[in-house]
Parts: sequence; structure tokens; C-alpha cells
Amino acid sequence: MSQEDANLEARLEEQETFEPPESFVEQANVSDPGIYEEFEENWPDCWERAADLLSWEEEYDTVLDDDDAPFYEWFTNGRLNASYNCIDRHVEGDRADEVAIEWEGELGETRSYTYNELLEEVEEFAATLRELGVEEDDIVTLYLPMIPELPIAMLACARIGAPHAVVFAGFSADALATRMNAGESEYLVTCDGYYRRGDALDHISKANEGLEGVDHEVSDVVVVDRLGDDLEHDLADNQHDYDDLVAEQAGASVDPVSRDAEDMLFLMYTSGTTGKPKGVKHTTGGYLAYTAWTSHAVLDVEPDDTYWCAADIGWITGHSYIVYGPLALGTTTMMYEGTPDYPEKDRMWELVEKNSVDIFYTAPTAIRAFMKWGEQYPAEHDLSSLRLLGTVGEPINPRAWKWYYKHIGGENCPIVDTWWQTETGGMMITTLPGINEMKPGSAGPPLPGIDARIVDAQGEEISAGEAGYVTINNPWPGMLRTLYNNDERFINEYWSEYSDEEADEWVYFPEDGAKIDEDGFITVLGRVDDVINVSGHRLGTMEIESAVVGVEGIAEAAVVGGDHEVKGEAVYVYAISEDGYETGDELEERVMQGVLDSIGPIAKPEEIIFTPELPKTRSGKIMRRLLENIASGDELGNTSTLRNPEVVDEIAEQVDID
Ligand code: WTA
Repeated sequence: MSQEDANLEARLEEQETFEPPESFVEQANVSDPGIYEEFEENWPDCWERAADLLSWEEEYDTVLDDDDAPFYEWFTNGRLNASYNCIDRHVEGDRADEVAIEWEGELGETRSYTYNELLEEVEEFAATLRELGVEEDDIVTLYLPMIPELPIAMLACARIGAPHAVVFAGFSADALATRMNAGESEYLVTCDGYYRRGDALDHISKANEGLEGVDHEVSDVVVVDRLGDDLEHDLADNQHDYDDLVAEQAGASVDPVSRDAEDMLFLMYTSGTTGKPKGVKHTTGGYLAYTAWTSHAVLDVEPDDTYWCAADIGWITGHSYIVYGPLALGTTTMMYEGTPDYPEKDRMWELVEKNSVDIFYTAPTAIRAFMKWGEQYPAEHDLSSLRLLGTVGEPINPRAWKWYYKHIGGENCPIVDTWWQTETGGMMITTLPGINEMKPGSAGPPLPGIDARIVDAQGEEISAGEAGYVTINNPWPGMLRTLYNNDERFINEYWSEYSDEEADEWVYFPEDGAKIDEDGFITVLGRVDDVINVSGHRLGTMEIESAVVGVEGIAEAAVVGGDHEVKGEAVYVYAISEDGYETGDELEERVMQGVLDSIGPIAKPEEIIFTPELPKTRSGKIMRRLLENIASGDELGNTSTLRNPEVVDEIAEQVDID
């Protein structure tokens, strides 16, 4: 490194605020700072601005109906179809021959669909679903990896008004069964397999195993043939080959069904405090308006862009910001099937260069991995097409932020650090890239129209610099409407902590800790419940715990998240064996397998620590905080309130901190 470079590097390390480049501001979709005040003064009518980004078949009467809070309704009596908004209207406009989806397979094959072609595919699959008997409001489960048939199937469902429930392809057979059972879903779309690091991965066996655990009749299963000859598989009587069915519907035309704004668009299962996953319900009008608006205002998406969100559609980020938001705006959205280091560690940058990507959105865990691999990989490529960078999913440490800014953005792209959740449907706390300065590590102020506050345990706003909790004090169009079939849990999980029910004042509690500074910038610190964030994937420790105690020979277990350099957090299992079982490799292997079977590889424990006892308070509660500290290699602090303090050293000795 030359002296000049070293000086620059040192300056960057110390710099605490960054201005968005003038060239970006000049062209930004939103650049008038008055928008914050405008939204505040006109709330809730300000949200018409989001609704105006959509084409409505019938205009709505009211922007917000809060009569039955917190069961809020948005854009009431408006009617629209999400598939029409994401496809047809762009075909009717001037984007019929522009690329809607640009897909790249792991082996390097590509498929691109113009808006016209996407319309054809979606209509044919919509006709297929109808032919199978799928009716409006039937829930269709999609257990597919990152292949184009996934967004096609989502949009086909939306077209006929059948809510989809996408189950992340990395989830296990058991996880699929649990989700299909919870939604009483009778239809499944899956595939034979997909590629991972060049190997053909069997997916259909997992799907079939999952189907065995479904407690009701599944009428039909559609199987996409992704692997061709690389994987032979048999189809049961109710299973059909995707291409065969679609061929029968060649040229079909299916009118988009008119849906009420409040009709369910999809269900997305996510982890919560208890073992059972929560079925988050999102609606057609509010969700679509909100994802379109945030894609426009925060990601600065324009139709001419090539936009790439490198998430998996199996999670909310992919739903909102690979599929619905960008397609509603008529842009080109990219999809990549594979891993970022295959065949080489420059794969992402090769794709950015090849496709002249304008906007790139990923997770801090990926950035930390890129950083570890080294700056030589991005340096091999021309990344000058990039205009804006984004991150999501977990807090980003300032070092990773600055690395991203410099080595990917060439110090010429604003970064939006976007805080949100499955439940919020879209971004909530982030800078607007055409307006705000940026502070590495801090997400920024709440978006216009979002009343996010940082409060103490009593709900009082706290002073700058202190740590508290995030609350959201007014509703927003993209919010979840309820938990599927469980209004009571919806209230308990999100609205019971800080609301004043008698006064009809409802406050949403996202269960995140945060700090706020003098400028109103919010730094999110992480979950305050039993949810952990492994490589940006949200996992419930209770779900993992129940998998561990389900293993023969395990008497009791506690699962916590410990700090991890790349993953952010990693899974640590503390387990007590039953009398008569040896705590050796064999039992460890079975615990590992138990977790893989019940959730999937994303929940794979970093370490399994056998202990004769778990540290407990005098009242018998497991001291999770202590177990987290041990896993993270942190100071243990006061252990005198424990009933069994001696066990702590014993455990700590066994943990192998890297
Ligand atoms: C965390 C993902 C810090 C947070 C969209 C939240 C973040 C959980 C950020 C939701 C961010 C998400 N900074 N933390 N920019 N974005 N989180 O439902 O703890 O998979 O509650 O939604 O991720 O995870 P979920």
C-alpha cells in the first residue's frame, strides 16, 4: 500500500459521517428533505403517495381504517391484483420487451424473461393451478429454491387470488410439514433438486418426506424438473411434472382476479419466542403499495435499472425486494441460484460487472465474508455501474460498512442500512439516500410517516446514547394484519407490551433493542427475545431447543446465540444427557442430526456442549444471558445470584472460542 493509500484508509477508518454523492442526489427519486414534515402533517393520507404507485381497479374509500385497532385496514374497499400490477400494466405500457427477471444459475446458465414472456409464463401456470382445482383463497405452498419458477408461481397464485406460502428450500422436511399443516395447505409446488457448489442436490426426497408428515390430504404436487438427467425421481399419483402441465396450457390467458385491498396476498412463516412458527399475513393493497414505495424511495429503483437483491426468495427480503417491490416498479430484477464463492470468490462481482448492476442489496454477513476473502476479488471487476448499495437483516459493524463503501461502492454510492422485519413487510428505519447523511453502523431515522421511538421498559422515551427498545407508535400500510388463524397470539406477541388498551392506544413492539443519537439516528442492537440471527436468518432458540430435547438421550437443553465473526451470531447448544447415555461423539452427532432434521442446515449448531447442569437462578430459571456470554467469550459478570455457580466454570472450560 502506498503512503497515500494508507492515509486514505486511515481517514476512512475514522470518518463517522458520510454525505451521499452529489451525482446520486441529483438523480434520486426522493431528494426533498421536506418529505418528513409533509408525511407527518398529512398522516395517514400521506400514504396515498404509496398507493399512487399502483394501478387500482377500484379506488379505495379510506386510507386507514382504525376502528378495530390493532386490526388496522388500509385502502379500504380498493380493488387490485398484484400480478396485474407487477406484470400486465408494464406490458400495456412500454416495457413489454424489457427484461423483468434476469436469472443466473449456479453453473453459469442464464434465463431472462421480458415482461411479455413473464406474463405468458404466469398465465400458463395460473391456468395450471386452476386446472388442478386451486380456487381463490386456497393456500398454495411453494417449496422451491432460487429458480425462476418460484417468482412465476408466486405471481400465478397472486393472479388467481390464491395466497402463497413459500417455505425456504433450505428448511427440513419436518419444517415443511409443520408449515403445510399450519396453513392447511392442500397444494405444493416443489422441484427435483438444485445445484450447490456444482453438486446436484436432492430436494424432492426432502419434500416427499415432508409430505408424509402432513396431517391432511394433499391433492396435488407439482414438481419442477431443475436437474434433468442429474437426478432421476419417480412421481406419485398426485404428483405432476411442471413442464407437462404447463405445456397443456400453452397460450392460456387468465384474467387477473380482482382482489380487495385487504385480501391476503401471502403467508410467511417466521420464528418467534415459542417453538411454533408464526404465520405472518400480508395483504394485497397495503403490502404492495408499501414495498413499491420503499423500493422507489429507499432503493431508488427506476425502470431502466438492473437491480439485484442477493437474498433468497424463501425469506421476506426476497418477497418484498426481489419480487413484489421491484416488479411493481417495472424494473429488471436479478436472481442468482447459487453461492457467492462458486466457482470462485468473485462470483458476485462478476455478475455485477456482466449485468451492469445499478443497485445491490445484501446482508452484513455476506459483506463480512467478502471482507474476509479479500479486496482483490471485487478489484478484479469493473463495478462502476453501481449507484446504490443496501444492507438488511442484522446490524452492520462500521468496519464492514466502510469496507462495502470503499471496495464495492468505490466511495461513490450511498449505503442504505435498512431495518425491518417479516412482520413489517418493508423497510422502516433507514436513511433516504438522496437526503440524509450516513453514519456507519446506524440504520438512520425512521422513514417518513413511521413513528418509531426508542423507549425504556416503561415506554418512556430515553435520552440519546442510552440503550432501550424500539417501538412503532403508528400503523403503516405494509404491516402484518394478523398471525394466521391466531388473532390472540397476534395481540400478545406484538401489541401487549406497550399499548394502552383502555385508551385505545396501540404500540407495536418489534422485540429489538436500540439506541438513538442527538440527530435521531437509530442504531439497532439486536433482538431482546429468544430469537437469534444467524447469517441474517431469523431462528427461534426455542425451536432449536425442542429439536434437541427430542433427541433420545437428552434430558434438558438450552440454546443461545453467541457472537460470530462472519455469521453475526451462531447457535450454541448446552445439553444435559439422560442417565445411562454417554456424552461422546455419538450423542453429539445425533443432536446435530436432530437439529438438521427438524429445521435444516441453517440452524446447525456451532458447538454442542454437554454439561451436568445448566446455570439456574434460585427460582429455577435458566440464566441464558450467562450462556450467551460464555458462547461469545465475554466477561461473565456477577454469578452470585445463581443456585449453582460452580457449574459456570465447568461449562466455560469446555467451550472452544475461536
Ligand atoms: C434484524 C428481515 C439491525 C432485527 C428483513 C429484526 C436488523 C430482524 C436489520 C427481522 C438492520 C433486520 N439492522 N438489525 N438493518 N434488519 N434486522 O423477520 O433484529 O427475518 O427484528 O426480517 O432482523 O428479521 P426478519
